[in-house]
Amino acid sequence: MQQEMPNTQDEGQRPIQTNSTLVVEEGVNLRPYNSFGLPATAQRLVRIRQESDLRRVIDHPELGRAPKFVLGGGSNIVLTRDVEALVLKMEIMGKRVVEEREDAWILEVGAGETWHEVVRWSLEQGCPGLENLALIPGTAGAAPVQNIGAYGVEAKDRIEAVEVIDLITGRLVRLPASVLAFGYRDSVFKQTGFGGLAGKSVITRVLLRCPKPWIPQLGYLDLERKMLETGITVPSARQIFDWVCQIRQAKLPDPRQIGNAGSFFKNPVVSEEQCRDIIGRDPGIVHYPMPDGTVKLAAGWLIDACGWKGKSVGGAAVYERQALVLVNRGEARGAEVVTLARAIQESVYGRFGIRLEPEPVIV
Ligand code: EPU
Repeated sequence: MQQEMPNTQDEGQRPIQTNSTLVVEEGVNLRPYNSFGLPATAQRLVRIRQESDLRRVIDHPELGRAPKFVLGGGSNIVLTRDVEALVLKMEIMGKRVVEEREDAWILEVGAGETWHEVVRWSLEQGCPGLENLALIPGTAGAAPVQNIGAYGVEAKDRIEAVEVIDLITGRLVRLPASVLAFGYRDSVFKQTGFGGLAGKSVITRVLLRCPKPWIPQLGYLDLERKMLETGITVPSARQIFDWVCQIRQAKLPDPRQIGNAGSFFKNPVVSEEQCRDIIGRDPGIVHYPMPDGTVKLAAGWLIDACGWKGKSVGGAAVYERQALVLVNRGEARGAEVVTLARAIQESVYGRFGIRLEPEPVIV
């Protein structure tokens, strides 16, 4: 069912405008819009295809005040119930190389672009630098929110700035990376307290920086293995892209075939002392010393060590090839995913005294 709302305001900064009405879809099935494939319905959903769509929502007498839920590729959410808030489905497209500087290429991409397509396209444009982030599910607009990362590179290493629209004022602001408070799978967009932007603004475009000269990032064990296997010691960016795709395909389920949200928990960070204590009991634990003296533990290893691979609750299961990934075996409901996740947290806490923190947002 669709309901048309009158346009209440003239356009702002972007020239492209094709649609003069605001279309509100009602009772939208969200299963195709979340990578876990969980059942849930959005009471009301608006597709945001350009900045002006968002302004129309903000300026609307009723919708402007309604609580809002921003949906990108739906690859980092666990839907446990229907969504009452107005769903803003981000579909702003566009990819262009906006600047070539001495020290970098600057790319601008719409929040609704598929992240992997952005990576592939950037290489085709002759702008290497994003290849280690190939095949990460989700949209470009979601990349800064959780500071996606893989194989030694994080989004924060490649983000120059983001454009956001303030959900109260409708103003478009360009925020440089320096104010985005990036951390491990964290940013200002996830923070709710003072200065946090969660629920306050929506990312519309992302400016990416591919540094010059290009320096391949090959320090990750899985990539070192690929170099040894193939004998290629000076890989091109395209070669690294292909390797990353192969590595991910070998151990991570394709959300188009098996519903999942990538890593379900963050890798926990502990003190050196805590780590020594755990190593004393479990010498095999996979851990990575961090520059600040703390130690990051492989959550997948901890879960695996507790015997969770292949275990399930209803339709929700622990992936056989990577214990950090929870999957939808078919008809899983969000509540089953959450029950399974809690049971894993309890068992890891019971054995190692470590609290695992979920990575996706539980709705
Ligand atoms: N391990 C096990 N058993 C398992 C899973 C992992 O023993 O069931 C061990 C592995 O053998 C390896 C170590 O744990 O020695 C780490 O595993 P892996 O290399 O697969 O990486 P990860 O730490 O589990 C992180 C990111 C991934 C990212 C990879 C590669 C987080 C939460 N996850 O996973 O990101 O692709 O490194 O950089 O930081 C995501 O965030 O959704 C995601 C997939």
